[in-house]
Amino acid sequence: MLLSVADNRDRMGKYSARKAAECLKAAIAAKGSARLIVATGSSQFEVLSHLVAEPGIDWSKVDGFHLDEYIGVAMDHPASFCGYLKQRFVDRVPLRSFHFLDGTQDAQTVVRVASEQIASGGVDLAMVGIGENSHLAFNDPPANFETEDPYIIVALDEACRMQQVGEGWFPSLDAVPKQAISMSIRQILKAEKIICSVPDERKAVAVRNSIQGHVTPQVPASILQRHPNVELVIDRAASKLLNDNTLSKANSV
Ligand code: GLP
Repeated sequence: MLLSVADNRDRMGKYSARKAAECLKAAIAAKGSARLIVATGSSQFEVLSHLVAEPGIDWSKVDGFHLDEYIGVAMDHPASFCGYLKQRFVDRVPLRSFHFLDGTQDAQTVVRVASEQIASGGVDLAMVGIGENSHLAFNDPPANFETEDPYIIVALDEACRMQQVGEGWFPSLDAVPKQAISMSIRQILKAEKIICSVPDERKAVAVRNSIQGHVTPQVPASILQRHPNVELVIDRAASKLLNDNTLSKANSV
C-alpha cells in the first residue's frame, strides 16, 4: 500500500484526481476503454471536483459504477447518492455509461441487475473512502469478507448512521435508513487499482486501525492491506494517529 499525506483536503483531492486520471488514461490507451467505480460521502467532494477538471481523459470511453446507496432514499433527497453522483460527476463529464443504484426500486432487482453489469468485465479503478467506523462502501463491521456476490444488501450500524447525521445529510438518527445496497468487499478488491481518499481528524482512528492493525472484518478497510495496488491518500489531520514507522514511508503531497 502506498501512503500519501497531503497538507490539506484540497491537495488530497487534487492528488487523488491526478492519480485517477493517469490510471484512466493508461487503461484507455491500452484497451480502448476504462471501467471506474466511484464513491460518495464528504470524503469525495474535493476528489470529484478535481477529477471532472482533469485534462485529457476521453470520458466517452469510460463506464462508471455506483459504489453504494441507501434503500428507500429518492434522487431528490439531499442524502441521495444518486443525486450526489449526478450533480458532482455524471452531469459534468460525457461518460459512455453510468450504472446507478436506484434505492427506490425493488432492492433485490437492483442488486441482481447491478451485479450482472459489473461482473460483465474487469474494473480498472475503484475510488473509495473509509467511514468513521472504518467501513468500506457500506460494509460496516463485521464486514462480509467472503461473499462473491458483487452487490449485497447490508444493514447499517449505528456509528455509520450517526456519521450521516453528523455530516448533516439527515436531520436525526431515525431519519437514516437502516439498510443499503453496497458493492461487496470482494468486488471492490477485484479492481486493478484502488485509490482511497480519506480526509479529516474524525477519520484518524479508522485510518490507523485500517493500516497499522490486523486484517479483520471488525475493521473492514483493513482488507485493503491485502490488495497489491492501493494508494491511500489522506490529509494531515487523518494521519494524526499513525506511528513514526508508517509516516516515515509516506509520500508528502
Ligand atoms: C460513505 C459512502 C461511501 C464512502 C464511505 C466513506 O458513507 N457510503 O460511498 O466511500 O462511506 O465516505 P464518507 O466517510 O466520506 O461518507
